[in-house]
Amino acid sequence: MNLLAKTLQGLEDVLAEELKALGAKRIKVLKRAVEFEGDKTLLYRANLELRTAIRILMPIKTFRVRHESALYSKIKSIDWTSYMGLKETFAIDATIHSPYFNHSKYVALKSKDAIADQFREKFDRRPNVNIINPSLRINIHINDDNCIVSLDSSGDSLHRRAYRQEKVEAPINEVLAAGMILLSGWKRDCLFMDAMCGSGTLAIEAALYAYNIPPQWQRDYFCFKKWRDFDPQLWASIRATAESNFRKHEFPILASDLDFKAVRITERNILTADIEGKIEVERKKFEKVEPPQQKGILMLNPPYDERLAIKDIKAFYSEIGDKLKNSFAGYEAWIISSNLPALKSIGLRPSRKISLYNGTLECKFLKFEMYDGSKKTNRKPREDHAPEA
Ligand SMILES: C[S@@+](CC[C@H](N)C(=O)[O-])C[C@H]1O[C@@H](n2cnc3c(N)ncnc32)[C@H](O)[C@@H]1O
Repeated sequence: MNLLAKTLQGLEDVLAEELKALGAKRIKVLKRAVEFEGDKTLLYRANLELRTAIRILMPIKTFRVRHESALYSKIKSIDWTSYMGLKETFAIDATIHSPYFNHSKYVALKSKDAIADQFREKFDRRPNVNIINPSLRINIHINDDNCIVSLDSSGDSLHRRAYRQEKVEAPINEVLAAGMILLSGWKRDCLFMDAMCGSGTLAIEAALYAYNIPPQWQRDYFCFKKWRDFDPQLWASIRATAESNFRKHEFPILASDLDFKAVRITERNILTADIEGKIEVERKKFEKVEPPQQKGILMLNPPYDERLAIKDIKAFYSEIGDKLKNSFAGYEAWIISSNLPALKSIGLRPSRKISLYNGTLECKFLKFEMYDGSKKTNRKPREDHAPEA
């Protein structure tokens, strides 16, 4: 069957790699999505194991449409009774990029009416809408006059991992965190450190990846489990195989933050993720952190002076740069921020620049290779420019 995995802008290629590793066929990279072909096993595995997917859709009908009345008739022509009964519930999400339709909410409402009317005409009654926890979540996507109707097999966004019960003020999206780790090319063969860990998202995603634990290992709710063709034996065997593929990991994963509350939240989230003992957590100012090994990956999501205000953001980033130069020789340091002038103040030349979005904020995810003094220097000459926009 034809399937579609949605993701965040900038993560399409890593998602395609993840799908390839799961055995997906006919992989096609689109904007914020990857199309692929697979069977029911792959559909279940994609939901459980993909680290960079937001949701997995199964398209059931595609048609051209330019008017609300035509949309109503086309939606009504789908046999919804083959997907749900009167006792089940449904919800509709609509996204539109079209000159023919103005409001996604209205498209969702029209579609809901079409489905409800089909049931009423057949049975005099209709299934209820439940937007939180429906049995069937329907996705309507209209691009220009091309409409794709899909069933949403995930139900709730896959970025909502079950472990993050608590968060700091500006937490990073879990899918973005996992994507950053995969984009960094970390082979799980050295230390991983987040020294501004906030709620611990980067370190927890790193640990799940390091030990090969599926990102949704703790999650119970997936819409496909409510579908009529749900195969509980297949699901159980997929989980059993995933568990047998958990791996050992011998390198430290470290999380630290200057804030007491952040450290406490990180520790609680680690407990909820059931990976106690796999991450060392410490309350420490980054300026005081000394890496315990000669080689590793340091990943930082510092305040941008947007949601978390900082008095002198340029001086703060300049101190980060000084610390990298003084203590992190042998490390690859990755920093994400939307604050380009502040990033420039780090005073080091990035060897990679990747554009990503943290919510609505356009960010740069920069790699700094920290050589020790005797080797090639990566200090920026004075006249160097800001990262490419
Ligand atoms: C944007 S938040 C990180 C959010 C985190 N990635 C998450 O998912 O929750 C930035 C964090 O940096 C911490 N921080 C700020 N200055 C710091 C410093 N000098 N040393 C260590 N941590 C610092 C803050 O306490 C805050 O928790």
